[in-house]
Amino acid sequence: MCGIVGFTGTREASPVLLEGLRRLEYRGYDSAGLVTGTGADFHLRKKAGRLAELAREVIARPAPGCYGISHTRWATHGGATDRNAHPHLSTDHDIAVVHNGVIENYAALKQQLVADGVAFRSDTDTEVLAHLIARCYDGDLLQAVLQATAMVKGTYGLAVMSRAEPGVIVGARLGSPLVVGIGADGHYLASDASALAGFAEKVVHLGDRQVVQLDETGYVVRTRDFDAVDMPALDIAGFLGDGDAELGDFPHYMLKEIYEQPEALENAMRGRLDVGDATAHFGGLNLSAQQLRQIDRVIFTACGTSYHAGMVGEYLFEELARVPAEVEYASEFRYRNPPIDRNTLIFAITQSGETADTLAALRESKRMGHTTLAICNVVGSSIAREADGGVYLHAGPEVGVASTKAFTTQCAVLAMLALYLGRSRHLSAAQGEKIIADLQALPDVLRETLRCHDRVKAIAAKYADARNVLYLGRQYLYPGALEGALKLKEISYIHAEGYPAAEMKHGPIALVDEQTPSVFLVPRGAVFDKVMSNMQEIKARGGPVIAVASHGDREVAAVADDVIPVPDVPEYLQPIVTAIPLQLLAYEIALLCGCDVDKPRNLAKSVTVE
Ligand code: F6R
Repeated sequence: MCGIVGFTGTREASPVLLEGLRRLEYRGYDSAGLVTGTGADFHLRKKAGRLAELAREVIARPAPGCYGISHTRWATHGGATDRNAHPHLSTDHDIAVVHNGVIENYAALKQQLVADGVAFRSDTDTEVLAHLIARCYDGDLLQAVLQATAMVKGTYGLAVMSRAEPGVIVGARLGSPLVVGIGADGHYLASDASALAGFAEKVVHLGDRQVVQLDETGYVVRTRDFDAVDMPALDIAGFLGDGDAELGDFPHYMLKEIYEQPEALENAMRGRLDVGDATAHFGGLNLSAQQLRQIDRVIFTACGTSYHAGMVGEYLFEELARVPAEVEYASEFRYRNPPIDRNTLIFAITQSGETADTLAALRESKRMGHTTLAICNVVGSSIAREADGGVYLHAGPEVGVASTKAFTTQCAVLAMLALYLGRSRHLSAAQGEKIIADLQALPDVLRETLRCHDRVKAIAAKYADARNVLYLGRQYLYPGALEGALKLKEISYIHAEGYPAAEMKHGPIALVDEQTPSVFLVPRGAVFDKVMSNMQEIKARGGPVIAVASHGDREVAAVADDVIPVPDVPEYLQPIVTAIPLQLLAYEIALLCGCDVDKPRNLAKSVTVE
């Protein structure tokens, strides 16, 4: 959460800072701010609300200067107001700070500073850092940052300037990502490389507990002990991922990304399906065939939508590879101490590769000596770099806050991994060939599925006034139901719950009435009749039913109020196919509710705080 951009060089800083923030707005959009410097003068501009507010402010009151730092905020401590927007300044305005992370002991530090006469101007945890750095400052900003950060507990990605050192920016990292950019016009800092595309040619990923000092002519990375570290500067192109991050003709990123799914799946599978050996191959697993055969258990850790993909993975690994698998919320797993034996493989599933809880779960797994693999979309992200190996999704940039193509590509990658593991064990070549054929057909199946859009739009108009919606599915489609409910609630603010269809009799059925629609995931499969019985139970209580069902299924049409037809695929691929109408339904309802689908309230794309 929160995005940071800094620049020091030979061109005006504010256009670079604003453009960098625009690309980082997915990290938070409660407020934005920047400070630039001309000689020893600071020019501070900050505004609550979207980045556009700050951009307007900078047009009205330009912020001159060739060095500066900036921030787009996802509020943790203190509301989304002008005064809580970053940058924060020390009392005498000599030090300016932007911060991503959480200072856990800020209350005690603040109490001490207030007792010493410091007047605070915001409700943020970050402001203590500005005052602490000012107090530690004795002519060397880097030393002051080192001393001040030694007093704080928590996480930070920081960019700091001092009026006494014009042109100098100091960055520090513990738990929140920070990269240094090297360009022809100067040096940059940013929360991720995407902010620097077109500006920097090379990037250096700072490690935890490292600090960096930048000016127009160069940069030095140091450890907390002040030792200089020779960090590799890598070509930025390797960290920008594939695909296009611009909106094009689509009205929203979410819609664009829903429609990109057939191609995203093609990219996720390209070069990975081996028809000859009826298996899948992955370049970056860093595991020998022998090591793979020794794995006797798999744990997936993830959050949110990625957790739902992990649930699909649990079914896939157990069915196709016959390997016991379970999925854990990363936020729970990181604080548990479950007994895990040596031959357990631990996966971190994540679109962004920066989710704080998933990163912490990965580090905890590594600390316990387990082999870890990442299933990740963002190239070069913290999780991708820290895992022992992994698989990139190649879904292209996902900008809309609601995850869409990351989910379907995660499910496809998990299916390929299950095939790979299965083929190293019991799965026959004939079974492997069938799975490959099913996967290869999938992009076209999704193209066909997208044709349901008009039908979904009409159904959305009928149900947009609902205040509660149930999503019900069984087996592979239980995680599909959870994901459908998450999509609706996060972008339309309508309460939605996903349940295993049969389980709703044990409580949630009490919610059913004429105003509470239930979305049933009921394409043909082994539990079709069972789900139909559950549908009847809802109908018997007057609840409207929207069914996502196999094309031309008359049995479903005879019971459900509205049907969204989808092509038939094997059950293990149904979560991918049924995700499309559920994403479209959430999108269309959210539009009718007047919501900002790409930037829903209170959310951020990359959750880098606990
Ligand atoms: C929901 C959504 C979130 C993310 C979650 C994990 O649409 O996007 O629930 O799935 O914050 O994010 P990643 O996958 O980046 O670790």
